[in-house]
Amino acid sequence: MSNIQDQVVIITGASSGIGEATAKELASKGAKLVLAARREDRLKKLQDEIQAAGGQARYQVVDVTSYEQMQELAAFTLREFGKIDVLVNNAGIMPQAFLSKNKVDEWDRMIDVNIKGVLYAIAAVTPSMRERKSGHIINLSSVAGHNIYPGGTVYCGTKHAVKAISEGLRQEEAMSGTSIRVTNVSPGAVSSELLETISDPEMKEGMEDFYKVAIDADRIARAISFAIEQPSDVAINEMIIRPTVQVG
Ligand SMILES: NC(=O)c1ccc[n+]([C@@H]2O[C@H](COP(=O)([O-])OP(=O)(O)OC[C@H]3O[C@@H](n4cnc5c(N)ncnc54)[C@H](OP(=O)(O)O)[C@@H]3O)[C@@H](O)[C@H]2O)c1
Repeated sequence: MSNIQDQVVIITGASSGIGEATAKELASKGAKLVLAARREDRLKKLQDEIQAAGGQARYQVVDVTSYEQMQELAAFTLREFGKIDVLVNNAGIMPQAFLSKNKVDEWDRMIDVNIKGVLYAIAAVTPSMRERKSGHIINLSSVAGHNIYPGGTVYCGTKHAVKAISEGLRQEEAMSGTSIRVTNVSPGAVSSELLETISDPEMKEGMEDFYKVAIDADRIARAISFAIEQPSDVAINEMIIRPTVQVG
């Protein structure tokens, strides 16, 4: 039996792509899931699919940019399942464009979802984890959290921030002896709905070309599952997962 059996896992951004694939992978290994995102129809369909296959899932409609809603998500999970073992901090957007296009609204949105949303989720789930001296935070950074490229400046900035938050959280929890594990996951090109968040036509075309080598989201789900499955005295802190043929 996998040690994922009966672990209570919150997944933000569970309505598509990597979040959805991770939900299916962990449900198949017996996790109890709370699926979170804004599109209720998608969450309900996924919950129904998981339950029909014998798994356990609930869903909660949340916008990760609201700290109040993230606190409600944590409270809902504790009411439904009594504990929170893992947070897959995955919700994110990538409306890339050159800085010279001055898409200030999109910069704000990326900062709100990709950075503040990640912090709000951590703030919501860690108090009960610290009390139990057990927990696992899995943050979705990106290869863009390690590299910087033209047009990706703000997105790269947000993903570098996620990497910094992961490492800072890891050090603080290790120092405090809370036994909370932290994993920073940095995918390369993965097939999902992420490119739909790009409003700039030229940038979108260029990224679609780059994404011809993209791998399926279930590849990332398996890596996340691997990190959770490890014995509690070991933490996989950093994973970079590219398509084999991706250069940058
Ligand atoms: N695909 C890639 O190549 C790739 C590479 C590196 C890193 N990543 C990272 O992986 C994560 C997942 O992306 P993906 O590729 O799976 O993209 P995706 O298919 O577009 O999924 C993004 C998810 O985030 C949710 N989301 C967006 N804004 C939200 C908000 N304000 N509140 C709550 N949920 C929100 C979306 O759900 P709703 O719209 O229903 O709210 C959706 O479920 C992101 O952090 C992304 O940056 C992806």
